[in-house]
Amino acid sequence: MPDDAVTAASPAAADAASPQGQRRRIIFPSSIGTSGTPAFQDRVALFNEIGPDTVFMMGDNPALAPMPEKPTLADFFRYRLFPRGVNHLLQSAALARKAGLEEKVVLACLLHDIGFAGFMGSDHGYWGAQLIGPYVDEEVSWAVRYHQALRFFPDESVGYGYPAAYLRYFGPDYVPPPYIQEEYKAARKHRWYMSARMITVYDVYAFDPNAVVHLEEFTDLIGRHFKQPKEGLGFDGSPVAHMWRTIIWPNNFL
Ligand SMILES: [Fe+2]
Ligand SMILES: [Fe+2]
Repeated sequence: MPDDAVTAASPAAADAASPQGQRRRIIFPSSIGTSGTPAFQDRVALFNEIGPDTVFMMGDNPALAPMPEKPTLADFFRYRLFPRGVNHLLQSAALARKAGLEEKVVLACLLHDIGFAGFMGSDHGYWGAQLIGPYVDEEVSWAVRYHQALRFFPDESVGYGYPAAYLRYFGPDYVPPPYIQEEYKAARKHRWYMSARMITVYDVYAFDPNAVVHLEEFTDLIGRHFKQPKEGLGFDGSPVAHMWRTIIWPNNFL
């Protein structure tokens, strides 16, 4: 593993005020981000680098933007989420709003891939739904969870076909696994089906890299429908606070 892949921006970037002082801090890449690649096992070598002047990263990584003490949803959009993902979320929400969908569904579009943009692709709908669960109407997190399965299944009644992007991404003969097929069937019968379906409808067109939509266009909507905890996301003691903290400090050894 090349050293630059695991070392903070530069040793000089280590914050003297950090509890780890001026020591060189190295990042131990996460199991989930390396599993299935040589990097997973290569991490063993990093333990040999640890010594009086070299420690594992704990706390703020100077390569990342500093987060406020009490971070809001907007702070995560600005400072942590994958920028291409943020662009996609903003475009999806803008299209849904333009189509006149109710605010709850616009919010679901704005948040639908937060799991992907903040955590990982695998089961991103479920991660995203869990992350936002305590702060949004139950219908919003439900829709975020189920959009993942619904993306694989057309619905002619709303003009939704199988995504052309998925043909490229996964190959034309890809078949979703049984659990996704079961989730689709369950969602189809649910009273909130159309909310999750609307995410997929406004999802599919939202990949214009040149489109510019500003987060500020949704400040009021977020204020009305996202229950921002006063302690900040990650510090309110909710069952998902640790998930937000992991996005704040993704490089912590523990
Ligand atoms: Fe998605
Ligand atoms: Fe999406």
